Amino acid sequence: MNSYILSFLLIFGIQSVSDYKPESQQIKNLVNEDQELSEEGLVLLQKHCYTCHNPKSKSHDEIIAPPLWGVKNHYLKAYPNKESFVEAVRDFVQNPNEEKAIMKGPIKRFGLMPKPVISDSDLDKIIDYVYENEIENPAWHIEKDNHKNGNKTSRE
Ligand code: HEC
Repeated sequence: MNSYILSFLLIFGIQSVSDYKPESQQIKNLVNEDQELSEEGLVLLQKHCYTCHNPKSKSHDEIIAPPLWGVKNHYLKAYPNKESFVEAVRDFVQNPNEEKAIMKGPIKRFGLMPKPVISDSDLDKIIDYVYENEIENPAWHIEKDNHKNGNKTSRE
């Protein structure tokens, strides 16, 4: 009986020690949560958007949609603050149409973007990721960009 109580106390004791987290640990967990959220955004982006806006495309000839890097830059110029950026991208993706599009060239070349099947909350995670993180730019696109700007040195 005594050993039963003893092991109970022991287990209970270990449990409460392992539940205790110093403040720094709690802060670390918060940072990790942020990171997890951003990783989730990237996974969703790859699943729902990179099927067409693929940053791994090898050349200008093989793409089926404008690279998201360029799309982001156009949107940043038109909507510099985060709130309006998020709203404008969300607005377009939820209901793509020619009037809303701020880039007319890609519509001519690829046709209008089909409306993706995606939940509002997943879309918000994607747009948050796009705004907050550097978006991969296909190598051929970097060269084209340099050429356009008269810059002879490649950034590759
Ligand atoms: C089935 C292919 C396809 C998928 C999937 C796709 N797009 Fe597009 N997207 C396009 C094409 C093609 C264009 C260029 C024509 C246009 O603007 O409609 C485009 C254009 C855009 C534009 C620029 C519109 C403008 O204002 O000119 C944004 C922003 C955009 N896509 C965001 C997204 C996001 C975010 C996702 C993922 C949730 C996504 N797209 C998924 C094909 C796709």
